[in-house]
Amino acid sequence: MRQSVLLLPGDYIGQEIVPEAQKVLARVCELYDLDISTDSALIGGAAYEAEGDPLPASTLEKARAADAILLGAVGGPAFDHLDRDLRPEKGLLRIRSELGLFGNLRPAIMYPQLVDASSLKPELVSGLDILIVRELTGGIYFGQPRGIRTLENGEREGFNTYVYSESEIRRIAKLAFELAAKRGGRVCSVDKANVLEATVLWREVVTELAADYPNVELEHMYVDNAAMQLVRAPKQFDVIVTGNMFGDILSDAAAMLTGSIGMLPSASLNESGQGIYEPCHGSAPDIAGQGKANPLATILSVAMMLRYSLGCPAGADCIEAAVGQVLDQGLRTADIVSRDGVSISTSEMGNAVVAALVKTQTA
Ligand code: NAD
Ligand code: IPM
Ligand code: MN
Repeated sequence: MRQSVLLLPGDYIGQEIVPEAQKVLARVCELYDLDISTDSALIGGAAYEAEGDPLPASTLEKARAADAILLGAVGGPAFDHLDRDLRPEKGLLRIRSELGLFGNLRPAIMYPQLVDASSLKPELVSGLDILIVRELTGGIYFGQPRGIRTLENGEREGFNTYVYSESEIRRIAKLAFELAAKRGGRVCSVDKANVLEATVLWREVVTELAADYPNVELEHMYVDNAAMQLVRAPKQFDVIVTGNMFGDILSDAAAMLTGSIGMLPSASLNESGQGIYEPCHGSAPDIAGQGKANPLATILSVAMMLRYSLGCPAGADCIEAAVGQVLDQGLRTADIVSRDGVSISTSEMGNAVVAALVKTQTA
């Protein structure tokens, strides 16, 4: 069966890392006899520059038709002055919302070879395997009303709305419980129920749903404590489920535990299993154009794509094994290089992963 993947490189290092991931996908297709067509389109600042819109209708149409989407990153200083609706980030938020990609999986896995690159002591992070399940199409990111208004006294006031309906909470919690049942069997739901009503409801609905999953242990934690626990004793967590903004923040922190934000992939899924796959990091304008970006988060996102949208878990295992092998060989981009080590470029890393891909199981 022919399947289609849409490539959306986006801005700055997005344009350097997506081609590396594309090479890896092409080689996996050869190894596993997959019939996958690829097409590309513009999103973010690149789309604004070409068409005056960070998510042109033609991109959205191609995205709807694709089985899976591989995205680089959007945004950067060249676009920060634009009106909110024209900013690259708005294109990303819109595509997530238009495709209904409510379930954002952000696994933070410690590769044993990178234990020394972590900002925490080796014993705290070795063997770390956390899955953050972030709600992606609701919460304060999308709540209405929102805006900046001028008060009677002439002062301006900015406002946003933190809102979650029961059904939005239930569907993300269900995803988290189901994923937890297939791995460590523990869910930690992160909220701020001591202050925010929206998360009082969050806690209630998650607790109700837990009754359907007697084999999964549920714990609740306030977000400030969760941030502290992530850097104190991160291995206590299995699956963390949380809202859009808390998940955004906690996943960057979790990324750094694994050595670099350049290592953390993600999948954003809708109810029909279609997904956008992208690294958790941004467009890194500070290192763009210098061949310094670590492409592994994007390459590992291709593995998630094969597993969750393209029905080829063996191809996913093959990519993850190749990344492990490349790290075993001591190959490192600058973000994960040890103090006295030598770093390789973005494309050298991509090529090394391609060379390390070996078909070990039948698809
Ligand atoms: P960032 O993640 O782009 O960069 C933070 C730091 O991490 C920088 O020092 C950067 O050099 C480093 N870094 C990030 N990815 C790396 C990689 N693959 N290899 C090596 N180092 C890497 O976050 P930021 O600086 O806050 O944001 C820059 C722009 O990206 C902003 O416009 C922001 O809105 C956007 N952004 C986009 C996404 C996305 O597209 N999903 C995510 C986050 C931020
Ligand atoms: C991410 C990013 C985005 C988010 C921004 C760029 C809109 O930080 O994917 O983590 O906040 O979701
Ligand atoms: Mn983020």
